[in-house]
Amino acid sequence: MSTILIVDDEKSMRDLLSIMLRKQGYTVLTAEGGEQAKRIVTEETVDLVISDIAMPDGDGIDLLRYVKQSSPSTAVIMITAYASPKTAVESLKLGAIDYITKPFDVEEIRLVVRQAFDRRKLIGKEIIWKSPLVGNILQLVEQIAPTNSTILITGESGTGKELIAQRLHAFSRRKDNRFFWINCGALPETLLESELFGHMRGSFTGAVNNKKGLLEVADHGTLLLDEIAEMSPPMQVKLLRFLQERTIRRIGGITDISVDVRIIAATNKDLGRLAAEGKYREDLYYRINVVEIHLPPLRDRREDILPISEHFLRKYSVQLGKNLKGFSQEAVDLLVSWEWPGNVRELENAVERAVALERGDEVSRSSFPERMLTNTPIHGSIPVDENAPEIGDGFKLEDYVQQIERSYIAKALERAQGSQKKAAELLGITPRSLRYYMSKFGLKEK
Ligand SMILES: Nc1ncnc2c1ncn2[C@@H]1O[C@H](COP(=O)(O)OP(=O)(O)OP(=O)(O)O)[C@@H](O)[C@H]1O
Ligand SMILES: [Mg+2]
Repeated sequence: MSTILIVDDEKSMRDLLSIMLRKQGYTVLTAEGGEQAKRIVTEETVDLVISDIAMPDGDGIDLLRYVKQSSPSTAVIMITAYASPKTAVESLKLGAIDYITKPFDVEEIRLVVRQAFDRRKLIGKEIIWKSPLVGNILQLVEQIAPTNSTILITGESGTGKELIAQRLHAFSRRKDNRFFWINCGALPETLLESELFGHMRGSFTGAVNNKKGLLEVADHGTLLLDEIAEMSPPMQVKLLRFLQERTIRRIGGITDISVDVRIIAATNKDLGRLAAEGKYREDLYYRINVVEIHLPPLRDRREDILPISEHFLRKYSVQLGKNLKGFSQEAVDLLVSWEWPGNVRELENAVERAVALERGDEVSRSSFPERMLTNTPIHGSIPVDENAPEIGDGFKLEDYVQQIERSYIAKALERAQGSQKKAAELLGITPRSLRYYMSKFGLKEK
């Protein structure tokens, strides 16, 4: 469970935030001032600090500096007075991942906190590369980042699409404003609509308050629409209308609100083909695909494998307190010859695991997963597209779908190394659904 520390000298503010965040399932600690906060950060594992910027015993900026030094992996969000945009920007430069201006609404906090946790995994991640393919992509990224064009990022799972989206934001004029991310495939249609466009109180059962959507909250910033191919046809129409008009209307609302949001869409599907086959709105496809950035799979840019592996070797050696001098020659041969169906994400997991398991002074071949050593592809790489079984010949759709479900569940469990919570997150399902599938398919954790 994630722990949040709230730092504010006003009791009412601490109470308000604690109640709300506890409701969201976070563990919440509170501090009345900077000194107490510093003690807590040193003694406890805190994932996120939300601190007021102005406090009687020293300012929040000082606390921010302290946290970034003593516990760099802890994320910090500053609460600033509406009149001080300068301090807000200064805090971002010092490593705060976001800021909230007072007065704020509870919805905004909820979104910003959730995004903070979604994003934490990517903060500070460098893009490591050697292949000219990636070099060209990064050059294109720098060229188009400052424009407002909508961008489509395509590529297999784990190739770095989200990383590139972050970089587009970081190199844009919007960099001091927010970057938001939403997975369009993970939410049912009405929820997705309300997340994107917001809603008015009473517009549907469960809409107990007015709520701003991401498009409104991300005004002047960037919004990454991940898994854009999974959007339902009615949502496709709504998104198309937004891209044409650049205005939104909350569900149940009567006014159109203009917003200035740069849209980046990402998918691991061939959206052009889906559009050509009539499975996706063609007009939307053209609106999204103003510029396409395609990230090639790792197996098509093998020069990148070793530099990336070495990067992760250093990272995890530090994290796990190991002193490893490199990879053995056999390990290198294995790394560069493996197909990497899960791309960079799979490579990162493999190296992390190998570093953890290694007992010698360099990473040996035998510390890599069994499936790599026996050269059988990962269960999850059952191709859904080209090599799918033909219809006819006793083909049964439901059986095939179950086979795919099972393979993904197994793959996620394997990647999550036994953590059901992490596996569920990887799949974008709840731990409860995960357990359901596990028992349905007779899968046990490792
Ligand atoms: N060139 C790279 N250098 C360093 N790390 C990388 C590189 N490319 C990807 N990664 C890391 O690999 C992981 C997967 O990247 P990312 O989440 O961006 O992939 P993705 O294409 O969005 O995947 P998915 O389609 O599954 O969402 C991340 O941890 C990312 O930081
Ligand atoms: Mg992604």
